[in-house]
Amino acid sequence: MAKEKMVISGGATLEGTIRVSGGKNTSVAVLPATLLADDVCHIENVPDIEDVHALVDMLRKLGAKVDYEGPNSLRIDPRTVDTWHVSYAEAKRMRASYYFLGALLGRFGKADVAYPGGCKIGSRPIDGHLKGFSALGAETEVKGGRITAEAAELKGTDVFFDLITVGGTINVMLAAAKARGTTVIYNAAKEPHVVDLANFLNSMGAKIKGAGTDIIRIRGQEKLHGTTYAVIPDQIETGTLMIAAAATHGDVTIEGCIPTHMEALSAKLMEMGVRVTDNDDSIRVKMLAAHRSVNIKTQVYPGFPTDLQQPMSALLTTAHGTSVIQETIFESRFRHLDEIARMGAHVRVVDRTAIIEGVPQLYGAPVTVTDLRGGAALLVAGLMARGITEVYELDYIDRGYEHIEKKLCSLGADIRREPAD
Ligand code: EPZ
Repeated sequence: MAKEKMVISGGATLEGTIRVSGGKNTSVAVLPATLLADDVCHIENVPDIEDVHALVDMLRKLGAKVDYEGPNSLRIDPRTVDTWHVSYAEAKRMRASYYFLGALLGRFGKADVAYPGGCKIGSRPIDGHLKGFSALGAETEVKGGRITAEAAELKGTDVFFDLITVGGTINVMLAAAKARGTTVIYNAAKEPHVVDLANFLNSMGAKIKGAGTDIIRIRGQEKLHGTTYAVIPDQIETGTLMIAAAATHGDVTIEGCIPTHMEALSAKLMEMGVRVTDNDDSIRVKMLAAHRSVNIKTQVYPGFPTDLQQPMSALLTTAHGTSVIQETIFESRFRHLDEIARMGAHVRVVDRTAIIEGVPQLYGAPVTVTDLRGGAALLVAGLMARGITEVYELDYIDRGYEHIEKKLCSLGADIRREPAD
């Protein structure tokens, strides 16, 4: 398909109600996890995004029968899967291809997956995942750009993570769900998608307790059955829409979200002077006056999520005062700020810290997306700016946000997709 750009005519106020899509980072774990089932799985509330399309391709290449039962529902029959190899062409399409390691290891006792791709936001090693597989009794090797893991029998054990890792926690849960005996993960990640994946596996008959705390206990099962499961709403899309509402001095209600997942962002927005009101499954964001600067340090859940640091930093470029952002999770997650500087932002990045001196106004300019959440940041900047912003390299945005410009336009934004020059 020919490359496209988004053309944003900035300055519109976002108003109204919008429904959030299903979680990307949950879906990209749940889809590979269906390989562990002995029967058909029906997965609902799956976002219509490129990362999901890529995973559907990967599941089909492995031999699974995958059918869309609607734009957001999949029927996956993993019984016909007969290989444990994932090629470079497939794995490089996304980071979450590493979940095939845990899922295939659980299913076949072996996995051979090319090194994963994904956003270039730091070195992103997966040594913790491999240590976890080794603890379960697998031989692991990284050679020639491929990762292999093989075990005559996976045996439940204690797994201690030196560093909290979302991907590592999920990968070990996947393999341990089919191991003999009990696995206890210490220093586990507590992100909402870790909990959702555990709930999904439990709906297939797994015995997982403690997800959402830093100790997860998994009693391995010989067989897991098919299931029907709806993934949770997307925490990061919810947050991006909240930030976009504030950035445009808007008044937006985001429906179908889980407000408790948004506490860290809501608290920061309120500190900036934005009104945030929670209901059972919706959040209303209303910007009353000019917003103040705040300091942010990204942390593991329930701290401020690194995935919202980028759109939030765009909002802070027009705050009153100077904000300091410390990015503690990834080494290189400020590249979007170079682009927003082209729009008039005053920004200085020193190592993993960004110092943002608020300016009264951004001005539209051509900008290029360098990673998924950086793309969301550029959309926020374009919505705030005076004049026209052209956003290039949309593939990153399309990987993780379902029809984002349509959603924003339904709230009053002026965004068009056009062929890129
Ligand atoms: C997941 O990445 C998400 N991706 C990321 O979202 C998210 O930013 C991140 O968790 C943190 O919340 C998916 O869910 C597919 P980590 P992941 O393992 O699993 C280091 C987005 O935009 N580390 O928790 O890769 C690692 O380098 C994406 O949606 C090791 O050193 O994150 C990083 O510095 C981007 N060794 C830190 O830990 C390991 O074995 C956290 O990584 C594993 C990780």
